[in-house]
Amino acid sequence: MIGRLNHVAIAVKDLQAAARTYRDTLGAEVSEAVPQPDHGVTTIFINLPNTKIELLEPLGASSPIAKFLERNPDGGIHHICYEVEDIKAARDQMKAQGARVLGDGEPKIGAHGKPVLFLHPKDFFGTLVELEQA
Ligand code: CO
Repeated sequence: MIGRLNHVAIAVKDLQAAARTYRDTLGAEVSEAVPQPDHGVTTIFINLPNTKIELLEPLGASSPIAKFLERNPDGGIHHICYEVEDIKAARDQMKAQGARVLGDGEPKIGAHGKPVLFLHPKDFFGTLVELEQA
C-alpha cells in the first residue's frame, strides 16, 4: 500500500546552520526558508535525486516540534513520510490493522499542500510516520 518515500524530516534548533551544513559540507541544493505558521515550523527543503529532506525549525510558542527538541537538543530525525494513493483508504486499512492515527483521524493539508495523516510512533517501532496522498 505505501509507495515512495516522500521525505525524511529532521528537526533542528538553528535552521540556517543546518542549511549551511547541507549546502557546504554535503553539497546539497538547499531551498530558501519557508515559514509555515499553520504548522508551527519553518522549513527548508533539500531535493535529492530520489527523495527530499525537510529541515524543520520551531515557529511560534506552540510549535509541535518544541518538545522533541527539548528531548533531542542536537536535533534529530522527527518523522518519515510515505506516499499513498488514497489517504482515506490507507487510513481505514491501517486502523483495521490496529494502527493508531494521531489527532481526530481526518487528513489535514500538509506542508506541500496535500492531505496528510500522522501515525502513532509506538505502532511503528518508535518512528513517527506521515502519510501523504501523492
Ligand atoms: Co513531513
